[in-house]
Formats: sequence, C-alpha cells, structure tokens
Amino acid sequence: MTAARRAVAIASGAGPAAAATQAAEAGAPDPLVLRRVLGRFVTGVTIVTCVDADGQRVGLTANSFGALSLDPPLVLWSLRRASPCLPAFLAARHFAVNVLAASQIELSHRFASPVADRFAHGDWRAGAGAAPVLAGAAAVFECELTAEQPAGDHVLFIGRVLHLAESAAAPLLFHGGHYHRLGDRL
Ligand SMILES: Cc1cc2nc3c(=O)[nH]c(=O)nc-3n(C[C@H](O)[C@H](O)[C@H](O)COP(=O)(O)O)c2cc1C
Repeated sequence: MTAARRAVAIASGAGPAAAATQAAEAGAPDPLVLRRVLGRFVTGVTIVTCVDADGQRVGLTANSFGALSLDPPLVLWSLRRASPCLPAFLAARHFAVNVLAASQIELSHRFASPVADRFAHGDWRAGAGAAPVLAGAAAVFECELTAEQPAGDHVLFIGRVLHLAESAAAPLLFHGGHYHRLGDRL
C-alpha cells in the first residue's frame, strides 16, 4: 500500500483489513472519502459574484478560494462545471470574492441553495465590472479575470486583484462539513 492510500485508509477510520481491501482496489480514492479528507483542511467561506451578459447578478458560496501570487496580485477559486453559474463566470471579465463574516452564515446557506433571488438579502453594491460587493464582509477582493482553466469536474478561475477591503469582523470558517467560528490564538 502506498503512503497516500494508507493515509486515506487511516482517515476513513478503517482497520487493517479494510485498509488492505481499499489498497487492493485500483484507481482513484472513493469520492466520499476524498471529500471527507479534504474537509479536514479548514477554510474560510466566500460568496463569489459577477454579473451575466444581461447585467443580472450571479453568485455562489465557495470555499475553493485561495491566494496564488503577490506580484502580480493573483487569487484563484474553482466552480463545478455543472453549475448554472458557469456561463456567467466564463463570460464576465470581473468577479468579486466576498469573504464572509461569522455573522453572515445565513448568506452562506442562501448562496448554496436554489432560491429565486440570492441577492434579496444582504447589503450589496456594484464593484469592479459591476460584480456585487457585500457590506460587512470580513474581506473583499475585486478581481479582473486573467485566466480560466478546465480542471476535472471544475473550472479554475484566476483573477488579478484590483481593489481590496477588509474589516475586523470575525470570519466564518468551514471544517468537516460544518461551520465554525475562530477560536483562540495559539
Ligand atoms: C461551504 C461551501 C463551500 C462551497 N464551495 C464551492 C466551490 O468552491 N465551488 C463550487 O462550485 N461550489 C461550491 N459549493 C457549492 C455551491 O455553493 C452550491 O452548489 C450552490 O448551489 C452553487 O450554486 P449553483 O447551483 O447555482 O451552481 C460550496 C458550498 C458550500 C456550502
């Protein structure tokens, strides 16, 4: 068994027998196990937004956001290819990443749900390229799209940061499939 397979077997809580069974199976890790193990990586929670060709606001909850480069200032995130939001983000020249405060957990639920108008709640203004920017967010990155790259069942988006904002609001965290708030500084 490779170290990676052993790690997956350990993380899935499997004993030696089950681990051996998993090791005997060829191919990729079980998607459910992969999702669970990825969930061990603590992230913040964002709402990524843009406007579509008709000027309609589009956005979704995303925790795939990450830092990419300081010089030039680049960030990244990924969107599943099956998302109804995909055409809008592919066509838009700008997007905004709104890093949610813990107090904005309801917006996180809302933007991960099939509601009619996700923007009906929250205090939104038009940022760069009219991408919606959320008041009270822990941080905001207004970006110009510089590259998009299909990657498996997602599309990777890379943006150059045009405008930044931050607040002292406590961030919303995501870990193990659940929301959390920041604990004590170590
Ligand atoms: C905490 C959290 C993080 C998420 N991160 C992503 C992400 O990075 N990329 C993605 O495509 N979907 C992500 N999702 C799922 C979308 O928010 C969800 O599928 C939503 O329904 C997408 O809108 P759509 O159905 O219009 O595509 C996440 C959901 C949650 C709750």
